Amino acid sequence: MAAMHPFLELIRQRTSVESFDTRPVDEETIRALVEDAACAPSSFNIQHWRFVAVREEADRNRLCRAAFGQEQVRIAPVTFIVLGDLQGLDKLPRINREAVEIGALPQGKASAWERMAAEIYADPQLARDEVLRSASLASMTLMLAAEARGLASGALSGFDAGRVCADFDIEERYLPVMLIAVGYPADVERKQQPRLGVDEILNFDRGRRF
Ligand SMILES: Cc1cc2nc3c(=O)[nH]c(=O)nc-3n(C[C@H](O)[C@H](O)[C@H](O)COP(=O)(O)O)c2cc1C
Repeated sequence: MAAMHPFLELIRQRTSVESFDTRPVDEETIRALVEDAACAPSSFNIQHWRFVAVREEADRNRLCRAAFGQEQVRIAPVTFIVLGDLQGLDKLPRINREAVEIGALPQGKASAWERMAAEIYADPQLARDEVLRSASLASMTLMLAAEARGLASGALSGFDAGRVCADFDIEERYLPVMLIAVGYPADVERKQQPRLGVDEILNFDRGRRF
């Protein structure tokens, strides 16, 4: 049988972790992870994701309290607050200008995207959905990148969003999507959570009765 591609091995090796080594994650690595995460696709390439990297002990304790005392947030040397910018559309003309300049996007398509995006994002529910989708894809990319860089991670949605915004000066336009605790893995066995079988989660052609 052909050897498995290293990326596929990495996908299978990743688990959420709650314990981390005390070794800090340096700023260069944090920046690299965010650069990796930003390779994710996003609606109209708006790149709604924003990241707050929380490192200081007092802030980690504060964030841990906002995450209902989930200890991994206190223990991890860095936890990312992944935000979605509900007004991310503001940057689209600049993003498109650069894309057109380098020949990655035809001018006609750029203009059409801006028109369509303006329509979609006028609906607050749709805007919120799109922000959640795009920031979630960036979150997953960040977690896989962490794994590839020898780090471990754990995503959390168990947190009080209002408290996170108040404690970390996050403006209303930014929707807290997820926390991702990141650090070097502690020397403990990582057991994979079971997954539903493919037959239970895949249907062909129609979506009824999984
Ligand atoms: C959106 C989302 C929210 C999650 N929230 C929490 C959380 O608040 N606390 C926690 O310990 N784990 C949380 N997890 C981790 C899941 O429990 C974990 O991904 C799942 O059990 C599968 O295990 P694995 O990631 O090790 O494969 C969350 C995961 C996702 C994707």
